Amino acid sequence: MSPAAGDPDPVRLRTESADDTRALGAALAKSLRPGDVVLLAGDLGAGKTTLAQGIGTGLGVSDHVTSPTFTLVRSYPCPTPPVSVDGHLRPSSAAVRTFLHADLYRLEHLGEVVDLAIAELVEDDAVAVVEWGDVAEPVLGADAITIRLTEGHRDDERCVTVSVTGSSDPRRDEIRRLLSAWSAP
Ligand SMILES: Nc1ncnc2c1ncn2[C@@H]1O[C@H](COP(=O)(O)OP(=O)(O)OP(=O)(O)O)[C@@H](O)[C@H]1O
Ligand SMILES: [Mg+2]
Repeated sequence: MSPAAGDPDPVRLRTESADDTRALGAALAKSLRPGDVVLLAGDLGAGKTTLAQGIGTGLGVSDHVTSPTFTLVRSYPCPTPPVSVDGHLRPSSAAVRTFLHADLYRLEHLGEVVDLAIAELVEDDAVAVVEWGDVAEPVLGADAITIRLTEGHRDDERCVTVSVTGSSDPRRDEIRRLLSAWSAP
């Protein structure tokens, strides 16, 4: 299924380099909330891990985010600065505390996605970014943010299409605004 299939008005963007894709990911991270699942689609070398690195950076992950191919899911803690409530510093209840990075390339059947229980893992305080996530759309796609990367005209150019469906739908405008610097003409 095409990620844009469920979204009549996907956000169309373009990046010029790997660092540009990381910067886009870091900007997108500002729109992410605990429980979000981001599915990354695109061919080998399209830039999925690069984008995941940017999202990790945007969530404050200090460890280097690498491809989790052999572990399927890696978990990174996110710092959660306290917020001021009535003059007292308290832990923010809305903060993302864990960044989960998954890569489904080696999965052989969809049942394994169910076994990974990604939707349950993100429930309380995590965000999951899933490479080859389009494979898991039947399991994870209902409320997901799906991002497809494809090659552009030049070597280092990538077309990036962000589709939002289900309960994530109201966030399309926020994502469009946060990522306006990368808008494809
Ligand atoms: N605009 C760009 N965005 C992202 N990566 C880019 C861009 N331009 C060049 N690159 C290069 O393309 C490669 C992308 O590799 P990356 O590992 O992120 O892809 P991937 O989609 O995760 O691949 P795989 O399917 O093997 O996991 C890197 O070498 C990166 O430097
Ligand atoms: Mg990768």
